[in-house]
Amino acid sequence: NRRTKQRKVLLMGRSGAGKTSMRSIIFKHYVAKDVRRLGATIDVEHSDIKFMGNLLLNFWDCGGQESFLESFLTNQRSHVFASVAVLIFVFDISSDDPAVDLIKFAATLRALHEFSPDSKVFTLIHKMDLVQPNHKPTIFNSKTAEIRRVCYDEGFHPEQVEFWGTSIWDQSLYKAWARVINFLVPNASTIEAMLGKLAGLLDAKEMILYERTTCLTVTSVSHEGDIDGNPCTDRFERLSSIMKTHKHSMAKHTGSVPSDANFAEMMVKTGDFMFFITRLTENTNLAVVMPSDEASFNSARVN
Ligand code: GTP
Repeated sequence: NRRTKQRKVLLMGRSGAGKTSMRSIIFKHYVAKDVRRLGATIDVEHSDIKFMGNLLLNFWDCGGQESFLESFLTNQRSHVFASVAVLIFVFDISSDDPAVDLIKFAATLRALHEFSPDSKVFTLIHKMDLVQPNHKPTIFNSKTAEIRRVCYDEGFHPEQVEFWGTSIWDQSLYKAWARVINFLVPNASTIEAMLGKLAGLLDAKEMILYERTTCLTVTSVSHEGDIDGNPCTDRFERLSSIMKTHKHSMAKHTGSVPSDANFAEMMVKTGDFMFFITRLTENTNLAVVMPSDEASFNSARVN
């Protein structure tokens, strides 16, 4: 089904939380050190992002300054909160005023519940790079416990809300945004089933489908038994980050813009298996881990 499906995504959180920074890195090909140049968002910044050919993400980056939030919650209330598929709410873990952050979050959820009660909420606990590594799990858990309580009080079911720790300085940002995308792609389960079938035919251990411009994981399949054994649990998003960096250096080299820079194929071979990434469709790249003999590789490429 090629009919375009439009989904409205609200990106909210207090001023300086990091909303525009993350959106610029994921969709506009900024690198982390460049986002300091971004100014505060005035009112709402709208952008339509075409994804996987038939998904149109209708982004509302809502400026977090007090006066804007007040206006979203009052005179623009129905306009902002109607027909929302996903709310991404960004919490700054280094905030000076965490209690006020929660009050604003509660007010936002109340409006969302009124106009889009079935929407999904992704809460991003952001700037985790500023937390000492050994304190990260405790701080993340206590923050999510506080947020969970607010969600419950405002009438959201536990399965409607997800929590992700993020930072623009590592691949955690890709992990969280890939989850959002996986939720929004209308036919993710069909794609996953087909990928599973292809993996079976090729005797592949793992297949990961990436969207070409953002390098975000759309979906993946892993051969049973191999998933638990792999110590590199963040390998999908690490690859996203590597591909993004590669795009940047290719763009620099060829003088093009990063969104247009794409590679044709990339392959790494070891004794037992090989890993390659190749273009699958107009909008996707496929990463494959499979046995390393020449015949299997050639038939995989044909398939
Ligand atoms: P408004 O537009 O006012 O709503 O703010 P915003 O939420 O869009 O914040 P913005 O993206 O402009 O980021 C504010 C500041 O946070 C910038 O100086 C970024 O460099 C910084 N920042 C964003 N993400 C991170 C992060 O993961 N870690 C750290 N340490 N700083 C970050």
